[in-house]
Amino acid sequence: MAVKQICCIGAGYVGGPTCAVIAYKCPDIDVTVVDLNKSRIDAWNSDELPIYEPGLEEIVKKCRGKNLFFSTNIDTAIINADLIFISVNTPTKTYGIGKGRAADLKYVESCARHIASVTTGHKIVVEKSTVPVRAAASISRILTANNKPGSTYQVLSNPEFLAEGTAIVNLLKPDRVLIGGENSVLGQQAIKALVDVYAHWVPNEKIIKTNTWSSELSKLAANAFLAQRISSINAMSAVCEVTGADVCEVANAIGKDTRIGDKFLNASIGFGGSCFQKDVLNLVYLCEALNLPEVADYWQQVIEINNYQRRRFASRIIGSLFNTVSGKQITLLGFAFKKDTGDTRESSSIYVSKYLLDEGAHLVIYDPKVPEKQIKRELQHPTITENPATVDDLVSICHDPYEACSGSHAIAVCTEWDEFKTLDYQRIFEKMLKPAFIFDGRGILPHAKLAEIGFQVEAIGKMVGKEGQFHVGSSNNILSPTSRVLP
Ligand code: UDX
Ligand code: ADP
Repeated sequence: MAVKQICCIGAGYVGGPTCAVIAYKCPDIDVTVVDLNKSRIDAWNSDELPIYEPGLEEIVKKCRGKNLFFSTNIDTAIINADLIFISVNTPTKTYGIGKGRAADLKYVESCARHIASVTTGHKIVVEKSTVPVRAAASISRILTANNKPGSTYQVLSNPEFLAEGTAIVNLLKPDRVLIGGENSVLGQQAIKALVDVYAHWVPNEKIIKTNTWSSELSKLAANAFLAQRISSINAMSAVCEVTGADVCEVANAIGKDTRIGDKFLNASIGFGGSCFQKDVLNLVYLCEALNLPEVADYWQQVIEINNYQRRRFASRIIGSLFNTVSGKQITLLGFAFKKDTGDTRESSSIYVSKYLLDEGAHLVIYDPKVPEKQIKRELQHPTITENPATVDDLVSICHDPYEACSGSHAIAVCTEWDEFKTLDYQRIFEKMLKPAFIFDGRGILPHAKLAEIGFQVEAIGKMVGKEGQFHVGSSNNILSPTSRVLP
């Protein structure tokens, strides 16, 4: 069975770029991306796409109106499709059983019910959204329990591994494409139909076929392993800061071991983004539900270290600034959860800001991509502040990095934007209060040069006061390294 028409339900970070690339690489297939959210669809049909990804606009412009369509007419797109991607959000539950940990599958379920209500004939339904293991079985049950006479389904799992900021490159040259399905004749036929779509541009050896549960679990496992790697290097950064070892040197040394590899070893103020925390919590919840408490505790620790790293960074700022930041102006450079994106979901900057605001600091925030409104909205969220008015009083947003640093006691680099590496720090130093502190939460600045200018430099995973290089900071306290971390 050859796929000629694809419908993708959900025009978000996953559905939009994925379908744009499928349309681009498969001119013989019509791809329609649908969403309930009209303004999102309007944006996909406009000159200003709803998400920013390098290379996305060019691809959309090439295919839109030819074999790539964005629409709110969900029924028609489902009816016409041979294959339907479910690409809706699966956020962490904010209510009821599993609150704060389990994935909320209500959007996935409503898609399944929608598909069943309008389908006639045979459809391949593909879960692209990240879901707990065995979600495909639930989708299958909903479809068959509600199907119209004569309609049949095969449900596949085909998780997406793209990272924000590099989505198009990841889609054009994926490390692998993973497809899970039933070990039956019809299941294997459905897998083959989806393999043939990817085979338009992905080499055969990179397309992995598994059973459905392995595919679902592999997505959670991949994100859990990546998150664990960051927590591991961040845990090492804490050891470095009190021993004089340098986390960059350690990362370089261990990364040369081909069994470990050199990627994803950048110590930071903690991972953010919409996936890592959500998926690890989802895995923890799944393990608890499966009565595997030791496994659940193991993965929970990845989250604990991430939270600890955020608190530790804020504590280091407070400790260095003579144990009080009340009334002091601190500049945050970067608010996005990583460079090259305007996304702030679960960004560590939010938590560092919260801890500093709790201590009465005045924050001036500069980010090249994140709009002012979005920063305020994140900081005014009820889980971050009890009183949204404090954010209006204590936080200002600047559109120029030099202005943002002027008059500050300290600068904290929270996102690794390239432009922060080449700012004129001499000019910045002259306009700051003295002693002028700079906290490099991403390990991207020229530390020796900054120290020469006169800054007190404090960097993640580097001991302060390293002889002959940096000024001795207050956090150079080997006797009580952890007592200073916020509770
Ligand atoms: C991640 C996965 O990489 C991707 O495969 C999956 O499909 C979705 O989740 P994403 O969240 O877009 O992608 O970004 P990623 O580049 O993985 O970074 C996540 C967070 O980890 C960011 O806050 C980043 O700054 C941080 N990070 C990453 C580190 O702190 N150190 C590193 O070495 C790498
Ligand atoms: P992701 O990062 O997983 O792509 P997003 O939140 O960016 O998630 O996008 C998911 C999209 O799915 C949203 O635009 C939302 O409006 C859409 N959506 C959710 N439920 C449905 C549904 N039942 N039918 C159509 N679209 C839906």
